Amino acid sequence: MANPRLLVVGELNVDLLLNQIQTFPQLGKEIIADEMDLCLGSSSAIMAANSAAMGADTTFCGVVGQDYFGDFILRELERKSVSCRHIKRLQDQKTGCTLILNYGQDRANVTYPGAMNALTISDVPFDEPVGYQHLHVSSLFLQKGIQNDIEQLFIKARSAGMTTSLDMQWDPAEQWAFDYARCLPYVDVFMPNESELMALTRTDSISDAIEKIRPYLNTLALKMGKKGSIGISSTQQITMPAFEVTHFVDAIGAGDSFNAGFIQKYMAGAALEDCLREGNLMGALNTTAAGGTGAFCNLDKINENIKDYWGIELSLS
Ligand SMILES: Nc1ncnc2c1ncn2[C@@H]1O[C@H](COP(=O)(O)OP(=O)(O)OP(=O)(O)O)[C@@H](O)[C@H]1O
Ligand SMILES: [Mg+2]
Repeated sequence: MANPRLLVVGELNVDLLLNQIQTFPQLGKEIIADEMDLCLGSSSAIMAANSAAMGADTTFCGVVGQDYFGDFILRELERKSVSCRHIKRLQDQKTGCTLILNYGQDRANVTYPGAMNALTISDVPFDEPVGYQHLHVSSLFLQKGIQNDIEQLFIKARSAGMTTSLDMQWDPAEQWAFDYARCLPYVDVFMPNESELMALTRTDSISDAIEKIRPYLNTLALKMGKKGSIGISSTQQITMPAFEVTHFVDAIGAGDSFNAGFIQKYMAGAALEDCLREGNLMGALNTTAAGGTGAFCNLDKINENIKDYWGIELSLS
């Protein structure tokens, strides 16, 4: 069977990553970071790059500026074999950038959205004759040009024969203006983490949050960091423990790598349990190298590491 065709619609930015920082920054003072990296950023791009590294035929739809960071993003995505033919470049916009102050398991981010605001539903290639099997959308609240059309985006994708997934990510404005009751029926897999799900549903516990959202769900893949993940469908509720990580570097992009692993299995028609396990495995692998894509150079390297760390043979279908 041919590789599944995945379409990722979303934001694009670089991550300027500062590591080994002495303390927290304060206004009027200066501190030193002992390490710095410029990496492919954005939840959507990390999901796309890691899906492609795992063998999915992946196309990205997004917007960058005509600038150095835009060149860098396209080069990085192409190096990972992600098709960039639906990435628009705008003269009058700067490419998005996230400054990340990384403190081990946690981090403080500042994002300049720039060109990512210019992506709209009319940029999405629904009519492309080749067709896609699955649409993944991430970082809803960072995409001002998409946010109001999100329900339509999923309806159109479904009409074009695609299955769909959404990782809405954190809302920097903390308004959580996402009408989940209207939209989730068109989302096959909803992929929040615990704090996002509670904030969205305005609840204080995961069990309350799940009960509130359950009537609108197809499948929920709830990410819980070191605790692993929970999968809920109309017929099942499965808790899947995380893989133990002995070579932890950072957790940047672990959620996006979980998405890549889960969706890869989902596109292959696997059972919920297998999708969750693959998500957890890719999330755990993500944490063994710097940034979101460091552990996903290519399929051989992924295989080698998974065997070394967990004694597992990768099976992607
Ligand atoms: N320290 C860890 N050890 C083992 N597995 C981990 C660890 N951190 C994350 N994972 C795996 O990766 C998955 C996704 O990570 P997490 O729950 O942090 O997602 P997230 O909060 O959406 O992250 P992101 O900040 O990338 O959006 C988890 O469900 C888990 O399986
Ligand atoms: Mg996340």
